[in-house]
This record gives sequence, C-alpha cells and structure tokens, in this order.
Amino acid sequence: MRLLVVGFAVAGLLAAAAVAAQPQPIVIRFSHVVAEDTPKGKAAAYFKKLAEKRTGGKVQVEVYPNGARYGDDDELAALRAGKVEMLAPSLAKLGPFGAPEFEVFDLPYLFDSYEELHRVTQGPIGAGLLKRLGPKGVVGLALWDNGFKQMSANRPLRKVDDFRGLKMRVQSSKILEAQMRALGALPEPIAFSEVFRALETEAVDGTENPPSNFYTQRLQEVQKFMTLSSHGYLGYAVIANKKFWDGLPADVRRALEGAMKETTQYANDIARTENENALAAVKESGRTQVLRLSSEEKADWKKRLSAVHRQFEGQIGRDLLQAIYKETGFEP
Ligand code: LMR
Repeated sequence: MRLLVVGFAVAGLLAAAAVAAQPQPIVIRFSHVVAEDTPKGKAAAYFKKLAEKRTGGKVQVEVYPNGARYGDDDELAALRAGKVEMLAPSLAKLGPFGAPEFEVFDLPYLFDSYEELHRVTQGPIGAGLLKRLGPKGVVGLALWDNGFKQMSANRPLRKVDDFRGLKMRVQSSKILEAQMRALGALPEPIAFSEVFRALETEAVDGTENPPSNFYTQRLQEVQKFMTLSSHGYLGYAVIANKKFWDGLPADVRRALEGAMKETTQYANDIARTENENALAAVKESGRTQVLRLSSEEKADWKKRLSAVHRQFEGQIGRDLLQAIYKETGFEP
C-alpha cells in the first residue's frame, strides 16, 4: 500500500514537471477597431486560425475587435509600447503616425476598380511602402482591402453643391479633410468608435465609408441617404511591433509569414462580396435610400476633386504619385 502511494506521488510529480516544462505559447494580441463581421474582422479571425495551426500551437493569437482594447487615438502608441503585437489600421491613419506617403490611398478617384488597386497594393509599390515603416519600430506585413467609400448624409448628395455647409466626419487624414473642403463641406476628424453617436446627436451631418463599415456600425439608423460615389478607397496596413517580430524564432516567423500571405489572399478575395452583401442589407433595411450618380454628376465630382491631387503632390512625393498613375491610368 505504501509503495502504491509513493508510486502515485512520483507519477504526480512527473506529470507536474512535464506540464511545467511545456513552453508557454507566444501570444499575439491583435487589436482592431471594426466589427467582427467585416472584411478586416473576418481576415483577423482567419489569420488567428491559420497562425495557430501552422505553428502547431506555439503561437496563440488573441483578437480584440471593435476597439475593445485600443481605438484610433491610442492603438499605434500601444503597438510601439508593446502593449499589443499586431494592428491593421486604415492607411489614412498612418499619416499622423509619421508616414504621410500612405495617405496617397486617400486621394479621390485614384482607383476605379479592385484590379487597378491590386496592381499597386500587391505589387512592388505596396511592398516598398510597407518597408518604409521599419524605422518607426513597426514591421509592415501586408495590405488588406476593405473597399470603396460611399458618401452618406441626411440629405441626398447628388450635385457638388449639395455638400455645401455639411459637417462631414472623416478619418484623421489631411487629404480627406481637403477632399471634403473641395466639395464645400466642413471636415470633422472623429474616431471610428464615435461615428454612430456623432451622427445620432447631429454633431456631424454625414460621413464616408464602404458599405461593410456603414452597415455593421448601424449607420442606416442615422443616415437617410447614401450615394454610390465610390470616390475613394479604404484599406489597411497589417503591422507588427518590430522588436517582437524580429525576436520570434525563425521557424515561427516563417510560419506566420506564410499564414499572413494566405490570409491576405483571403482578405482581398472576400472584401468585394462582403461590401456587396452589406450594401444589399442597407437597401433591405429600408432606412437609407441608396442613390446613383448620373455620368454628368460623377464627372462634376471628379473635376472638383482632382484639385486635391495637385494640392498634395509635394507631401506625397511626385515619384510615388507618378508611379501609381502609371499603374492606374489616372490623370488628374
Ligand atoms: C474609419 O475610421 O472609418 C475606418 O478606418 C475604420 C476601419 O478601420 O475600417
């Protein structure tokens, strides 16, 4: 009997030692500001699944959607301070972070289609832009799509003059502010998490976003009209804390890079359909009337907004701008 007790005790100790010897998983805290049911939300969840599988559990990804941990105002500082390991801010939000060349993606009507866009984001220009983040303590891992932004307000926006005097929420981007001014509106930079409330309380009159963000933020409850303007693009840079990323064991980093490559394909494959489905849901809600522009109206918007390209050429850099125009065929 005594022998049995000793035997159990030894077995117990061995089991405890085995548990203690198990390496702790590397935790990646991945924070973002949108709903789970959006292109970015779905891509983050996909990356989690793939990263954990590909590293055989050596890595555990904790995704924090809806700005639950950090929002527009503090997420980049949190990444640099090592409070989170990964983010996917919109490209517009990298301007205030000291990377104004990313604001090039905010230029109105720069891309007419996802095909044109991918020649830039998924080609050498996109890779070159991501590399420029290195000196800021950040590794640029990938560029993910959301989609094309549509204008909304409580009055129909068809003619450029319809914008006059409207307070329009924008992301914190100088180009987006200039875009609203060029249309005769007053830009109001507001954090994403505050948009619904700002519209509900009429602190602002309108906004711009792809349908996936519009619908998942329930903006159909506070915006009577959406114009299918597709006047600008919203996309994301997936970034990681550089010290963390460079310090990963080489095999883990390789597995994560593979997972990111596949996730980027997935993200950019679903973005279009996600936005089409969201637009259909907005229409079905019966609360927001969806308007189309005539070709003359669209030509007027384009004409008015092309001034913004010229205005920001110096800040973005002529070479970068010309290289993008070459890919897209855009002529300001
Ligand atoms: C916004 O602030 O409108 C967007 O950047 C939110 C997002 O991350 O899609």
